[in-house]
Amino acid sequence: MEHKGLLQSDELYKYILETNVYPHEPEPLKEIRALTASHRLLFMGTSPDAGQMIEMLLKLTGAKKTLELEVYTGYSLLLTALTIPEDGKIVAIDVNREFYEIGRPVIEKVGVEHKINFIESEAIPALDKLLQDPDNKGSFDYVFVDADKVNYLNYHDKVMKLVKVNGIIVYDNTLWYGSVAKSEDSVPEILKEGRTNLLKFNKALAEDPRVKISTAPLGDGITVCRRVY
Ligand SMILES: C[S@@+](CC[C@H](N)C(=O)[O-])C[C@H]1O[C@@H](n2cnc3c(N)ncnc32)[C@H](O)[C@@H]1O
Repeated sequence: MEHKGLLQSDELYKYILETNVYPHEPEPLKEIRALTASHRLLFMGTSPDAGQMIEMLLKLTGAKKTLELEVYTGYSLLLTALTIPEDGKIVAIDVNREFYEIGRPVIEKVGVEHKINFIESEAIPALDKLLQDPDNKGSFDYVFVDADKVNYLNYHDKVMKLVKVNGIIVYDNTLWYGSVAKSEDSVPEILKEGRTNLLKFNKALAEDPRVKISTAPLGDGITVCRRVY
């Protein structure tokens, strides 16, 4: 798989990226992509077309207090740091600091590191710790969830307590290379477990009355949730 684009035509995805996405992509984000291009797990980076929509959401909602689950080399983290206001804050959690260190020089260079509180931890205990502080409950404007898919429902349970009413949660990879719409036998072995997790998650999200959702086939599929109560 060369990219995570879900469109049936590679030419069309390339056209969208070249016409609409890359010309607007900030230079530091291009740098993070370039630094990540030779990494063995490069497929984990958030797709720039999904990133462009996230930037739009952050601006439209005026998000200031945000949460990133998780970071990898920092594409979506830097995108958020560049988009939120100067006094905005990001709690960024990842179990692996080494990945974060790859993109960190770019983050430092552009002068947005003061917005970031990086926590090296498994996500669940870090979220539990955030929830122990009453000031955090219902206080986040925006949450991005892009970690181990097996835990998406656990993350949803916790971030729903952290995000404010009318706040936004974005889940990445919800269409899992398009495999959610295919029969299990026709899906490559490597995608099967993720497909099962995402099918369960997408169903639960669609049935959750606390959120309004919209799924967009950007990148590997993003589902945007607005907490309604
Ligand atoms: C898909 S990548 C995140 C990509 C990132 N949004 C970007 O734009 O590059 C997933 C990250 O989740 C981290 N991760 C996986 N399982 C985790 C867990 N249980 N707790 C914390 N971090 C985890 C990995 O270390 C990896 O950096």
